[in-house]
Amino acid sequence: MTGTADSAGPTGPVIEIRGLHKSFGDTPVLKGIDLTVGAGDVVCVIGPSGSGKSTLLRCVNLLEQPTAGSIKLLGVEMTDPDVDIDRVRTHVGMVFQSFNLFPHKTVLQNLTVAQRKVLRRSAAEADAVALRNLEHVGLADRVDAYPAQLSGGQQQRVAIARALSMDPAMMLFDEPTSALDPELVGDVLAVMRDLARSGMTMMVVTHEMAFAREVGDRVVFMDDGQVMEEGPAAQVIGAPRTERARVFLHRVLNPTAVEESELGQTEPPQPGDPDYLAPAGGRGPGGRTSPGGPRAGGGSEGEGHVPLTVR
Ligand SMILES: Nc1ncnc2c1ncn2[C@@H]1O[C@H](COP(=O)(O)OP(=O)(O)OP(=O)(O)O)[C@@H](O)[C@H]1O
Ligand SMILES: [Mg+2]
Repeated sequence: MTGTADSAGPTGPVIEIRGLHKSFGDTPVLKGIDLTVGAGDVVCVIGPSGSGKSTLLRCVNLLEQPTAGSIKLLGVEMTDPDVDIDRVRTHVGMVFQSFNLFPHKTVLQNLTVAQRKVLRRSAAEADAVALRNLEHVGLADRVDAYPAQLSGGQQQRVAIARALSMDPAMMLFDEPTSALDPELVGDVLAVMRDLARSGMTMMVVTHEMAFAREVGDRVVFMDDGQVMEEGPAAQVIGAPRTERARVFLHRVLNPTAVEESELGQTEPPQPGDPDYLAPAGGRGPGGRTSPGGPRAGGGSEGEGHVPLTVR
């Protein structure tokens, strides 16, 4: 190994991504990502399905090997073939949509196994660290429970506590609340909000726009394997510059809104309707609006337009 993240100075960025490319076979999925995350920053990553958000996070902790480019964690080049991947991963905690807890281990055992194996902590020390982190997520009284005995929100909080027990330099969250029943989302977001306030460096893929606006220092909008917009949360979510971000945000923020152009889809045109004899292709298949066409609700640029459902 050409250096260790442990020995890197504390002043530089926590993560520095330059020209990151990732292809699966011949299919390019990340097409040149540049991103810097400073100490204590909370960067929320948003974008349509398939835009490469998960792949980006998975490259950051080397669950995927980048095809090209550079990722530095605390100044150490992670794509260096000599790098100790297991060691690097201990510095980057990751929480997934599915909680990935060991079903046959108790909550306490879930939190201590990697501490013992990877960090070589004594049983007493690992237990103490685990208990401290379970207290942070409000589950100190469930140490002896098995995952199946916990709600989804509780399991996700255990997963967060487990990642924190490795003393990571940063935390990655990939849609941590999207598999949860709505009433369980708030508790998990509250834990993440506390974590952000405690100064943890975080990258969070999320569709929770209220959370991104409240907690995110910056929002990155990805589309088609590229960073299309990056800036303060209020700007990217409240007043996106690109049409693609506007369309995406409009859909996310108004999931039940009916597009003007879709209103005509509910029933075929009847004799006498202006559209009845319209030539085929006049509105396009499905009557979709073109990008830049009118949107129900009069556009999503205005800050006041964003429904904030802070939980
Ligand atoms: N292991 C893989 N092998 C082949 N293709 C993959 C693999 N992982 C991801 N992809 C493809 O890469 C693209 C980006 O996927 P990714 O999961 O990063 O998107 P995403 O932005 O996280 O989407 P979502 O919002 O649905 O989670 C998709 O087209 C996906 O099919
Ligand atoms: Mg994903």
